[in-house]
Amino acid sequence: MQLVSRVRVFLFWFLCLAVALASWRFLALGVEVSMEFVAYHAVERQLAFYAHIILAPVALMLMPFQYWKGLRMRRPQVHRWIGRAYGVSILLAGLGSLSMAFGTTAGLVAAWGFGALAVFWLGTTGYGIWLARQGRIAEHQRWMFRSAALTFAAVTLRVYLPFLFMTLGEETGYTLVSWLCWVPNLLFAEWYLRRPMRRSAALAA
Ligand code: HEM
Repeated sequence: MQLVSRVRVFLFWFLCLAVALASWRFLALGVEVSMEFVAYHAVERQLAFYAHIILAPVALMLMPFQYWKGLRMRRPQVHRWIGRAYGVSILLAGLGSLSMAFGTTAGLVAAWGFGALAVFWLGTTGYGIWLARQGRIAEHQRWMFRSAALTFAAVTLRVYLPFLFMTLGEETGYTLVSWLCWVPNLLFAEWYLRRPMRRSAALAA
């Protein structure tokens, strides 16, 4: 593997695992201390909130394993079980995030940004898993790639947020990130899926 590819793979694993683990900080510190700005969700919609902050990181943590080609080839059964866990986590965390999105105090634009993300997250993942169950594997891979791009919004949000806060201030920065954390990811996924295949890949396919 070339150096650039190695760095890319390392960053992908590191960011997914680091953001997932950091998200469970409330287990040690409590919600009030570690997530003060969203702690009101824990009071107003307890079930949705805990489903989201416990299970969304599970999906993020499992995602890189699904792109580990060696594991997929050698242990397809493990790939299927991780896929089921990824799907169930997104079903429950996604429904939780829908309720949180429309209960957010961050304003209507942010509510729609997070709300649309939740709908696409549930939709792409559910459709991708349904395709796998139908044996339509090439389409399954494409839809799960879209799902992964949306799961990765948890990472892009946390990467962009400090810069947006510094440049635009907290209110505008937070509103903007509710769209910026996932729309470019989805556009990238579409570009990637539609790019002309290299000759060698086309021959292999
Ligand atoms: C992709 C679909 C997702 C949607 C629609 C979504 C939506 C939301 C919403 C609406 C909030 C509350 C924000 C507020 O009211 O200001 C929130 C908070 C949170 N979300 Fe998500 N989320 C998604 C994915 C994820 C993932 C994959 C993780 C995994 C790390 C995650 C972890 C968290 C955590 C830990 C919080 C609490 C606040 C924080 O520590 O940043 N979310 N999410």
